[in-house]
Amino acid sequence: MEQVLESPTNNIKEFVASGLVSNTKVLIVDDEPDIVEEVVEQLEDEGIECLSAHNAQNAIDIVSADPEIGVVVTDIRMPGMDGLEMARQMKAGIDNKERDLFVIVVTGHAGMKEAVEALQIGAEDFLTKPLSSDHLLHSVRRAGEMVHLRQGERNFNKRLEAEVDLKTAELKQAMQKLNTANHIKDQFMSTMGHELRTPLNAINGFAGFLQDKLKGHHDKSIYEYLDHIIDSGNRLSDTIENILEFSETLSGERKARMDEIILTDVLNNIFGQYAAMAKEKNISIRIDDLDQSQTIITDHAMLARALGCLVDNAIKFSPDGTEIIIGTKSNDDTVVIFVTDHGCGMSSDDIVIAKKPLMQVDGSLTRKSEGSGIGLSLAIMLAELQGGNLEIDSTPGVGTTVSINLPQG
Ligand SMILES: Nc1ncnc2c1ncn2[C@@H]1O[C@H](COP(=O)(O)OP(=O)(O)O)[C@@H](O)[C@H]1O
Ligand SMILES: [Mg+2]
Repeated sequence: MEQVLESPTNNIKEFVASGLVSNTKVLIVDDEPDIVEEVVEQLEDEGIECLSAHNAQNAIDIVSADPEIGVVVTDIRMPGMDGLEMARQMKAGIDNKERDLFVIVVTGHAGMKEAVEALQIGAEDFLTKPLSSDHLLHSVRRAGEMVHLRQGERNFNKRLEAEVDLKTAELKQAMQKLNTANHIKDQFMSTMGHELRTPLNAINGFAGFLQDKLKGHHDKSIYEYLDHIIDSGNRLSDTIENILEFSETLSGERKARMDEIILTDVLNNIFGQYAAMAKEKNISIRIDDLDQSQTIITDHAMLARALGCLVDNAIKFSPDGTEIIIGTKSNDDTVVIFVTDHGCGMSSDDIVIAKKPLMQVDGSLTRKSEGSGIGLSLAIMLAELQGGNLEIDSTPGVGTTVSINLPQG
């Protein structure tokens, strides 16, 4: 179930309003007992819980022993340690992550310099003598609210941190599960691939063998059936090879082996490989004017495989009797190898779908073209492994150009 974190400010407001914060105690520090007594009385009349100390060291001890003290009202001038040094030591002695201490210093009437000094060492407020009970009460209440607010904020942050830690741990666990599942899937794909390959080779091989044996047989249909077996077997072999190659590439285990290759060699090989398939659809493949000596440093097998996927698609998604052009363009830093067809084309939304692994633009069961939706994503991964990328430029009803852009040199 999705959990929505509420905004921190709302939570702090609620936290304070709900009265969950323990009441902050106030410590009054002055060497003159009468003043202490008077201040304590005023504050206690307002329901504020007070403690008192008559010298700085005593005050430090009380603060460190009682974590509920959040506000200290202190005289500055006291025999022995003065109020400023006391406030400094108190602040240094508390763990700021766990506790807040709001110090209000009380200065004599000409004590502006002392007040500034007090604020500089971290005191939060100052009052001047003679103490007005209104000012005192206002300042102590404000201090109490500040302590409550900070406490609420700290508690909220702690909760937030705990939730983040929990979510991070859950995420880590999910990632581990995913990695294990992925590993099992890779292993499964590879084992299944090899297990399927072996019997299929036997079926294809023996079907060919039978066809040879039965040459001249009076029942022509036997020959045709065997043709179907061989065609289907070959298609299944191609699909298995594609799946194996796709899962190996996807697993990230494949690395490009860069070498200097002559581009015409690769394109001529592709032409040889796909000429027969194109001929069946009366499609002609033309290799655009090529600089015969143009070389590129890349992984030969990867480039050939990626281009093979593109030409296969160009043939598959073009109507009979059209032309496919394979060519190259280059500038200072990029070599572009493109395959252009005059087939059904794709809209920009179609292209987004087509680029996704295992997706076909026409994914319906009644689709016209066979395939597993692997070719294009395999070509994209292979182009990227060679340090390049793949681009599709297509217009529905007009045709498609797919380019592999590789870095020059
Ligand atoms: N040259 C092209 N012309 C039109 N559509 C194409 C072309 N190349 C790819 N596509 C679309 O992209 C989809 C994915 O291609 P691909 O991954 O090679 O899978 P498959 O060939 O198995 O369908 C295809 O099903 C098709 O819809
Ligand atoms: Mg394909």
